[in-house]
Amino acid sequence: MATKPATRISNPAEFGRVAVVMGGSSAEREVSLDSGRNVLAALKARGVDAHAIDGIPALLDALRAGHFARVFNILHGQHGGGEDGVLQGALESLKVPYTGSGVLGSALSMDKTRSKLVWQSLGLPTPKFVALPRGSDVHAAAARIGFPLIVKPACEGSSVGVTRVFEASQLDSAVDLAAKYPGDLLMETLIEGDELTVGILGREVLPSIHIVPKGAFYDYNAKYVAEDTQYLCPGLQGDAENELRALALDAFDALGCAGWGRVDVMRDRQGRNWLLEVNTAPGMTSHSLVPKAARVAGIDYEALCWRVLETSFREGA
Ligand SMILES: Nc1ncnc2c1ncn2[C@@H]1O[C@H](COP(=O)(O)OP(=O)(O)O)[C@@H](O)[C@H]1O
Ligand SMILES: [Mg+2]
Repeated sequence: MATKPATRISNPAEFGRVAVVMGGSSAEREVSLDSGRNVLAALKARGVDAHAIDGIPALLDALRAGHFARVFNILHGQHGGGEDGVLQGALESLKVPYTGSGVLGSALSMDKTRSKLVWQSLGLPTPKFVALPRGSDVHAAAARIGFPLIVKPACEGSSVGVTRVFEASQLDSAVDLAAKYPGDLLMETLIEGDELTVGILGREVLPSIHIVPKGAFYDYNAKYVAEDTQYLCPGLQGDAENELRALALDAFDALGCAGWGRVDVMRDRQGRNWLLEVNTAPGMTSHSLVPKAARVAGIDYEALCWRVLETSFREGA
């Protein structure tokens, strides 16, 4: 469970043979391969008997053949892509321990609308929203939210299909773009201010990162292409930083998440924080956010991978 203190391992042999599952067939395959190769190299450098496995079918074959004692999951993506609870369920049924969140935390975090319903019910701040099932009246929804607003697919990642909408004339094209992706849509109040993200490692909350994209927002280009996005860590100081970190941990726990992850937040111009989403298998490339925050906390990349692997030791796993 999330509240259980982390098990600390000192001898790499205690992990047994580790499958680092990466790649797969989701849209985020290339990012996952980049993350996975880095994780694999780090674990090997620390003496862990770690091996790369590409995708879920190959992993399940290898597990059934008894080749591995545990799994480091660095697949990104939904629809059985590794991050949405499907893989976690298969691993539970095989009784193979794995890193990160379980079935519920993974599935709930993948669905932004239902994540927000849980936060709202607990009084945790998240932008006002309307769920948009296919074919719903988007103009009526916009009238409830008011402009500016943001339209996004409820279950995608990497900022794909996300559009900021400032007036009614921009609404239809924003909805058309988001509707290119599977699943329902989500419309929410656009928070103008700063973008922050908070990494969680075991029960430790890492320093926040203030993301300063050169363009209008942290879109796909700013995440993966542009070289001019700035990252400030810690993102805030003093009480403001402590409050943000506490909120991130509450948001993570509320969704039943465990092990490690990253909570995305917008901070408005009045200094109020608004929860956007939780990522349960965040990027681990050399440019990724959790490794940056860990470094500021004095945890180098190899130590971070080790700590994430330790999250596979937990009750019920
Ligand atoms: N309500 C919002 N207000 C302001 N910006 C937002 C809002 N929702 C999303 N964004 C912007 O869009 C980006 C992607 O949205 P997010 O909900 O984190 O989805 P994902 O990262 O899974 O694509 C965020 O990093 C942020 O820059
Ligand atoms: Mg995000």
